[in-house]
Amino acid sequence: MFRKFRILPTRRGWKKFLLLVAFASFACCVIHMRIKLTIDHSWLDFTDIEPEDKCNCTKILQQDPEEIEQAKILSITVDFRKKIRTTDEQFIELARDCDKFIQMRKYLTTPLTQEEEEFPIAYSIVIHHKIQTFERLLRSIYAPQNFYCIHVDKKSPPSFLSAVLRITSCFENVFISSRLENVVYASWSRVQADINCMKDLYSRNTTWKYFLNLCGQDFPLKTNLEIVRKLKALKGKNSLETEKTPAGKEVRWKKHHEVVKGVLERTNKDKDPPPIDIPVFCGGAYIVVTRDFVGFVLKDPKALKFIEWAKDGYSPDEFLWATLQRMPSTPGSIPSNFRYDVTDVNSIARLVKWQFFEGVQSKGAMYPPCSGRHVRAVCVYGAGDLGWMLQQHHLFANKFDTDMDPFAVRCLEKYLRHQALKALI
Ligand SMILES: *[C@@H]1O[C@H](CO)[C@@H](O)[C@H](O)[C@H]1NC(C)=O
Ligand SMILES: *[C@@H]1O[C@H](CO)[C@@H](O)[C@H](O)[C@H]1NC(C)=O
Repeated sequence: MFRKFRILPTRRGWKKFLLLVAFASFACCVIHMRIKLTIDHSWLDFTDIEPEDKCNCTKILQQDPEEIEQAKILSITVDFRKKIRTTDEQFIELARDCDKFIQMRKYLTTPLTQEEEEFPIAYSIVIHHKIQTFERLLRSIYAPQNFYCIHVDKKSPPSFLSAVLRITSCFENVFISSRLENVVYASWSRVQADINCMKDLYSRNTTWKYFLNLCGQDFPLKTNLEIVRKLKALKGKNSLETEKTPAGKEVRWKKHHEVVKGVLERTNKDKDPPPIDIPVFCGGAYIVVTRDFVGFVLKDPKALKFIEWAKDGYSPDEFLWATLQRMPSTPGSIPSNFRYDVTDVNSIARLVKWQFFEGVQSKGAMYPPCSGRHVRAVCVYGAGDLGWMLQQHHLFANKFDTDMDPFAVRCLEKYLRHQALKALI
């Protein structure tokens, strides 16, 4: 009546049963290991080992006033400032053993996703001092599939150049520009530095899709994956500020300028009219452009003629890129009609807080007041700016200075690394 059913196998079935159990546990183990190998990147998260970690970044990003005040006080404490200072020599020592350096500083050694691997980015980084700021910027944007050209000012102290050299020697895809300029404020040399890197990057590898230029005081607001997705969304267009030249700024390209004793001076000599069929536009030094745009800048006869004409202007970076971006033959450009103007807020290239436009947003100001300090009417961000900054669409922000507020960079780098790893789970 009751059917006998067995849980345990018959005497003869034992061998088979054991084999099955052994195989099953082996398979489980392999699957488990694979999952662990592909998912567990948690050791790459930045842990609380720096002096800056005295402040709670979660609270700072949530705009907690007490935590932000605490960060402000620490930033100006002599003892604390001493603790966070790192010299060129210390970096030269640190990067002596590259394997150790890469591991200790937690550089990424593999592309985090296939999507990023298939979309390499080329960077030009123009710097002249502050090795620690540079290294932290590099670490924050570093991915093995990207390319990084570093332009070090010819005037930089030898120890700074040595430290940069030592760091770059640890990576195959990071290198110092083959031609270094003596960069004079507001002069052509600033643009030439970027063009030198464009040349090096263009011939080094054909796989990269977009070119971005940075300076030492920039820091990313997005992870590499987020940057890749934003670049893809541009669909082959460039993104940079380009607007009608405001009254009074024409003198910058109507008069001939000269470097005298290391300073750019305006002369009374008139420049020839620009060799183009469109007006001269006004913009910024920072651009997000396609590989074809870079090829155009390096090779197109019309572009080269315009570049030649721009060389004796004042701050030529602020009209050169903006105007090229409106020429019909430029790859990724937009029409010159004024309705296509792009402000710095609308471009994704750079977030900058200008002192004149700060205030109460509900009363028409462009952005809330700077929580750090102003240098030449530009905000050097403080920890209190982060919460707002991370809601903006820009890929990078300017300016950061770890000497003025080390918490802004610390909280940003921790946040970005955490976001990058979180996206993998
Ligand atoms: C930092 O602040 C957050 C939010 O208040 C809290 O959850 C977390 O435990 C704090 N972390 C540390 C290390 O105190
Ligand atoms: C370009 O970069 C990719 C990825 O790093 C590499 O596989 C390829 O060999 C490079 N090509 C050239 C021409 O260097």
